[in-house]
This record gives sequence, C-alpha cells and structure tokens, in this order.
Amino acid sequence: MKAIVLQRSLDSKVDLVELPKPVCKPNEVLIRIKAAALNHRDEWCRKGLYPNIQDGIVLGSDGAGIVEEIGTGVDSQLLGQEVMLNPALHWGDNERAQGKNFEILGMPRNGTFAEYVAIPADRVFPKPYHLSWEEAAALPLAGLTAYRAVAVQGKLKAGEQVLVTGIGGGVALFAAQFVLALGAKLFVSSSSPEKRATALELGASDAFDYGMNNWSAAALESSGGMDLIVDGASGDTLSELMNIAKPGGRLVFYGATRGNPPQLEARKLFWNQLQLIGTTMGSDQDFAEMLALIDRLQLRPRIDVVFPLKDAAMALDRMKEGLQFGKIVLSP
Ligand SMILES: NC(=O)c1ccc[n+]([C@@H]2O[C@H](COP(=O)([O-])OP(=O)(O)OC[C@H]3O[C@@H](n4cnc5c(N)ncnc54)[C@H](OP(=O)(O)O)[C@@H]3O)[C@@H](O)[C@H]2O)c1
Repeated sequence: MKAIVLQRSLDSKVDLVELPKPVCKPNEVLIRIKAAALNHRDEWCRKGLYPNIQDGIVLGSDGAGIVEEIGTGVDSQLLGQEVMLNPALHWGDNERAQGKNFEILGMPRNGTFAEYVAIPADRVFPKPYHLSWEEAAALPLAGLTAYRAVAVQGKLKAGEQVLVTGIGGGVALFAAQFVLALGAKLFVSSSSPEKRATALELGASDAFDYGMNNWSAAALESSGGMDLIVDGASGDTLSELMNIAKPGGRLVFYGATRGNPPQLEARKLFWNQLQLIGTTMGSDQDFAEMLALIDRLQLRPRIDVVFPLKDAAMALDRMKEGLQFGKIVLSP
C-alpha cells in the first residue's frame, strides 16, 4: 500500500513509500482509508518537536473509510461498514484526565496517511450519514479536542460570551461551531482579514486581529469581557487574554503553538478570580457526546483543501504557514 511516513533526512521530512498492507491483530479491524485529515500534531512530528517520534512511522491521526478485514474476536457485522476513527487510544477510566497509557494514533503507532490502517475495533464508529468522507475524516481529533475544551473543561453555558482565538485553526473552528450551537455569543481572533470576515459571516459577533498592538483593549471595549476563552496558541498572548476575561472568567488552553508564556501576571490572575484550565483531546464519553451533538444539529466540519495523498508535504506546508481555514484533507 502507499503511505506517507516520517523521514527527517529529507527536506520535506516525509516520504511517499510502498509498505505491506497491515495485518489485523486480535480485536483489530483493517480500514481502507477513503479520506484522512491533518492536525498540527503531524507538523510537530515533521519538526521533531513531538515526544518519542520515529522515522518510518505512517503519520496521521484522523481518518474515515470502510472496514475491509477483521481480526479474531471482532463482530463480523463490522465488515463492509462505513466508519470514522477515534484516534484517542487507552484514555482510561478517569473522566478528569487520561491515564499513563494514553496514546494518539499516528505516532508511534502507524496512522491514517495511507491506503490502509489497522486499529482496535472499539475505536471505529459509524460514519455520520450527513457527512462526506472528507468531512467525517476531518472531525475526530479536532472535534473531540474542541468539544472537551468548550463543553467539558470550559463548562459553557448558553448566553455566555466566548472568545475562540486563531479561528483559522482546525480545533478553533470546531470550537466556534460548538459555541454557537450551544447558544453562546461567539467572538474570534485571527491574523487574517479574510478569516475574520468569514468568521463574521459564520455568526461571530466580532473578530479581532491578535497581531495588532493593544488588541485586547479593543476586544474588551467591543465585547464587555469574556466568560470563557478557548486558546491553542499560549505564548505571549496569555497576558492579553487575561485582560479580556471577565472577573471570574475561565481560560481553557489546548495548545502552545506560540510556546510557553514569557511571564504570568499572578496579581491579575488572583485578583480577577480567573481560572486557567488545561485540556487534551477527550475521553470516550466526550467523543460520544461530541458525535451526538454533530448528529443532533447536523453540524458539518469545514474543509479547507483536499490534496492527493502523494502531495502530503504540500498539505503540511499549507498548515505550517497557517493558510488554512478549516481542515486540510488527504485523499488516497
Ligand atoms: N491538547 C490537545 O489535545 C490538542 C489537540 C489538537 C491540537 N493541539 C494543539 O493546538 C494547536 C492548534 O492545533 P490545530 O491542529 O488546530 O492547528 P492549526 O489548524 O495548524 O491552527 C493553527 C492556528 O493557530 C493560530 N495562531 C497562531 N498564532 C496565534 C496567536 N498568537 N494567537 C491566536 N492564534 C494563533 C492561527 O490562526 P489564524 O490563521 O486565524 O491567525 C493558525 O491558523 C497546536 O499547537 C496543536 O499541537 C492540541
């Protein structure tokens, strides 16, 4: 089968190779991939900034396809089913945080940027009827992360004011969709005027340019302050975000695209009764709730561009440069 593997000796850091078709172990299924989607995690692997990375591993956490073979112990009804994957493996039984065996498909376990992937049967779910292959592939990792950030860790209530930063990001756009779906008032930030304009068309009440000096003052004046802020950038934006939070506000962080914050203004944090909350992907229960919300409201992931599998390096470059609005998809 054709597959995109990490190969850090190459300029592109990835290689299109021919690999044997995976063999199902007991309790696994073999999926013929119809579409796979990129996440920033794949780019961190290319940059060598992800723990335990190995060359030769097939990248990709998200995918959707058809069950073509089953291992022993798997219900034969799954054969031929149209499914999507939950890439969160071994969360464990604590809803508050993942256990030490937690793992994400696509490093160090072979992932979805290939014609086939073998995965435990309990990680496959029926493809929602209203979604195309590309939309179903785009949903799992970013949708799950966004759902837990907004609804579980963020405890969003209808009528609250929410800022989702960097709306061009895959997780951010799902977070924005969930905020609107749950009846809250959405504000966004983005470096791109086009993305800000599109966010307003999608229902945001205002859109701020995080590249502008003192943008937080403008955001505070326009909104009156946020009950909840959902951010994947961290870095030097943290102190701006603390300016925009209402007293008692919650700031939920799912990523650190901009690295660690250079400083933390402790007085602002405690005087304003702020809550800084971390979140990572989500439990099986979060995944089920996220899928139920997608089904109930017939929400559709927004697709940026679909690339052929062989052009994975171009697709990753597009994500690296932050040009996307929505999810970048690969088609084998
Ligand atoms: N903890 C988890 O479970 C989890 C899950 C998924 C992702 N992540 C992490 O979350 C981050 C985003 O992931 P993704 O897959 O959604 O990435 P992505 O699709 O590549 O999005 C990155 C976006 O970050 C935005 N950005 C850059 N600098 C910013 C800043 N200073 N302030 C606000 N936004 C900024 C940009 O938005 P504009 O283009 O609009 O400016 C860019 O489009 C990554 O660091 C990723 O590793 C963590």
